[in-house]
Amino acid sequence: MRLGSREVLADVGVTARAGEVLALVGPNGAGKSTLLAALAADLRPTAGVVRVHGRPADEWPAPDLALRRAVLPQAAALSFPFTVEEVVRMGRAPWARQPGGGDEDDDAVREAIAATEVGAFAARPFSALSGGERARVALARVLAQRAPLLLLDEPTAALDLRHQELVLRVCRERARAGDAVVVVLHDLGLAAAYAHRVAVLRAGRIAAEGVPEEIFTDGLLSEVYRQPVEVFPHPRTGGVLISPKRDLEPHLGS
Ligand SMILES: Nc1ncnc2c1ncn2[C@@H]1O[C@H](COP(=O)(O)OP(=O)(O)OP(=O)(O)O)[C@@H](O)[C@H]1O
Ligand SMILES: [Mg+2]
Repeated sequence: MRLGSREVLADVGVTARAGEVLALVGPNGAGKSTLLAALAADLRPTAGVVRVHGRPADEWPAPDLALRRAVLPQAAALSFPFTVEEVVRMGRAPWARQPGGGDEDDDAVREAIAATEVGAFAARPFSALSGGERARVALARVLAQRAPLLLLDEPTAALDLRHQELVLRVCRERARAGDAVVVVLHDLGLAAAYAHRVAVLRAGRIAAEGVPEEIFTDGLLSEVYRQPVEVFPHPRTGGVLISPKRDLEPHLGS
C-alpha cells in the first residue's frame, strides 16, 4: 500500500472473522490506521485485494458496503452542530433506502446509547461534550449502524478506565453475536484481555499474529516497541500482564 510516494504497508494479510475480536497493535506509524482504512475499503490498495464477504471491496456499491461494515476513524474531528442523539441516529443513514430499513432505527439508537453510556447527555449538543464523551458518542454512532463488520481505530484512546473496559466488552458482545470486530489498540493489556487474536504491526508489516498469550512475549514486544517490556502471568487469573521495564527508585515508604 502506497500513500503518496511512501510504501506504508507491504505483504500484509489479515482476515477479520465473524465471531472474533482482532486487535491491531504496534508503534506509532506502523500502519494500523492505514490497514484499517484498507479493510474498510476507504483506501484502495496499490497492490493486492481487500475482500468483504469474499467479494473484492471495490466491486461493492457504496450503499451496500455501508450496510456491511461500520468504521470508527482515529480521532475523528467531528464538530456536529447536532445533539448527541442526532449524531447517533446518523449511524442509521445507510438503512434509509432499504425496504423496511428504518424499522430498527429507534431500537438501534437506544441500544447504542445504552451500550456506550451516553444517555445522560443524549439531549445535549455534541460540541459541548468532553473529549471522552465525544469519543463514546462517535462509537455509539458506529454501533447504531449495526453492520456485521466493525472497524474501530483506537476507540479507547480518550476513555477512562471504566469506559475502556466497557468498550472492549461491547466488542466481545458484538463478536459473540456473530459480528467481526477489528480494533486498533495501544493498550496491550486491553488487547491481551479481550482480543481473540492480535496482529502486531511493525513498519508496515505483520511482525506477529496469533492468540495474545502466545505472541505477547518480552522479546517480541521489547523489539517491536524499542522499549524493554516484561510480560508476566496475572497472579489470580493467569492472564497476560504487560508492563514496560522501569528503572525507578523504590517508592518512598515501601
Ligand atoms: N496520507 C499519507 N501520505 C503519506 N504517508 C502517510 C499518509 N498517512 C499516513 N502516512 C504514513 O504512513 C505510515 C503509517 O501511518 P498510520 O496512520 O497507518 O500509522 P498508525 O500505525 O495508525 O500510527 P498511530 O499509532 O500513530 O495512529 C506512517 O509512517 C505515516 O507517516
Ligand atoms: Mg493510527
